[in-house]
Amino acid sequence: MKKLILLFFICSQFMLSQNTTIEADIAEIESKIIEWRRYFHQNPELSNREFNTAEKIAEHLKSLGLEVQTGIAKTGVVALLKGDNPGKVIALRADIDALPVTERNNLPFKSEVKTEFLGTPTGVMHACGHDTHIAILMGVAEILSKHKDKINGTVKFIFQPAEEGPPPGEEGGAKLMIKEGVMNNPKVDAIFGLHISSDTPVGTIEYKPGGIMASVERFVITVKGKQTHGSQPWAGVDPILISAKIIDGLQTIISREAPLTKEAAVITVGKITAGTRFNIIPESAELIGTVRTLDKDMRTLIERRMTEMVTTLAKAYGGEAEITFQNNAAITFNDPDLVAQMLPSLQKVASKDKVQLCKATTGGEDFSFFQEVVPGFYFFLGGMTPGNTKAFPHHTPDFMIDESGMLLGVQSFIALTFDYLNAAN
Ligand code: NI
Repeated sequence: MKKLILLFFICSQFMLSQNTTIEADIAEIESKIIEWRRYFHQNPELSNREFNTAEKIAEHLKSLGLEVQTGIAKTGVVALLKGDNPGKVIALRADIDALPVTERNNLPFKSEVKTEFLGTPTGVMHACGHDTHIAILMGVAEILSKHKDKINGTVKFIFQPAEEGPPPGEEGGAKLMIKEGVMNNPKVDAIFGLHISSDTPVGTIEYKPGGIMASVERFVITVKGKQTHGSQPWAGVDPILISAKIIDGLQTIISREAPLTKEAAVITVGKITAGTRFNIIPESAELIGTVRTLDKDMRTLIERRMTEMVTTLAKAYGGEAEITFQNNAAITFNDPDLVAQMLPSLQKVASKDKVQLCKATTGGEDFSFFQEVVPGFYFFLGGMTPGNTKAFPHHTPDFMIDESGMLLGVQSFIALTFDYLNAAN
C-alpha cells in the first residue's frame, strides 16, 4: 500500500511537472540558444559548404533521440519527432548558410573566418542572421521532444543549406531538398518559417497574407548586331544602341503596363557587357538583370512583355535579340487560410499589438519553393534593440542582431506546432 501511495505520488508529480514545464522549458532554453547562436556566428560557412554547421545540428538532434537524416541537398539536416498521438505532419524550417561578407564589429564572438568566393578572398559572416534561425529551431526541437505526449502528429525539422543560392554550377537550397523528397515520407501538411529582422524591434512579429516576398528571376538578354568601324555606323548594326532602347523599353513595362496598385514589381538591368574599344561598333551585347514580382499574373505578364519587347525592339533597329529567364525563387506566398487560422497563435505569444501586418518586400526567399508544394506561413521576427535608430541592413559588414529577440521565435514555433496539430485532430 505504501508503495502504491508512493507510486501515485511520483506519478502525479510527474504529470504535474509535464503539464507545467513547457513555459519553464522555454525560459530555460534562452541561455542555450544564445550560446548556440554565438557558436554558429563565430563559425560561419558558405552555401553548400555548411559541413561543420550540419554536424553540430545533427549531433544535437540525435542527442534528443530524434530520427535524423543528414546530407539532404548536400549539407541539409532533417529530423522527425513523432508525437505520442497520431495526426498531421508540420514542418519547421531554418536556413543555415552564411555570406561572403567580412564582419566589422568588436563582438567577442565575431567571425574571423576567411575564404575565397568566386576567386576573390573574403571574410565569412552570418550577415543575414541565419545563425539565429539555427539556434531557434534547435531550441524548439529540444523543448518539443520533451513533450511528445502532447503532440498529435509529427514535427519535421528542416535545416536547409544554401538559402543564399548555391555556388555557380551547383544545385542546392530548398529546391534541391524538395527534389530529394523532403516534403514526403511522411508527407508534410503545412510548413512554417521565420526570418530575423535587423530593423524590426525585439518582441515584434511582422506578417502578411499572400505575397510577402518577391519571386526572383535572373534574365540574360543577348543582342546581336553587325560589327563595323566606329566612324561608319551605317555599315553595321549597333548592339549597344539596341541595348539602350531595350533597357528604356523594359522600364515602360513597369511604369505603363504593370498594375502597380495590385502589387509591386521591379525590373533591374544589373550588368552590361559589350565592345572592345572606342572606335569599334561590336558584334553583340549582353544584358543581365533581375525581375521581382509579388503576384503570379503580373509575373506572367511581365515576362511575356519583356520577351516581346526584346525581340521586336531589336528587330526594329535591324538586329536580333533573345531573352532567357532563370527562376531563383518563387513568390513567398503565405496561404491566406493558414495565416487566418494560425495568427491567433502568434498573437498569443507576442501579444496582439506586437503582431503587425507588414508590406511585402521585393527581396526573395527560397522558402517560397516549399510553399509551392504545401500551404506555408513565413513571417519576420524582431531582432533590433528597441529604440535603436541606426539598424544596419542584412548582408552588410555591420549587420547586428539583438539576441533577446530569439526567444519569441522559439515561442512562436512551439505555439504554431501545438495549435496546428491540435486543431487538425
Ligand atoms: Ni536570410
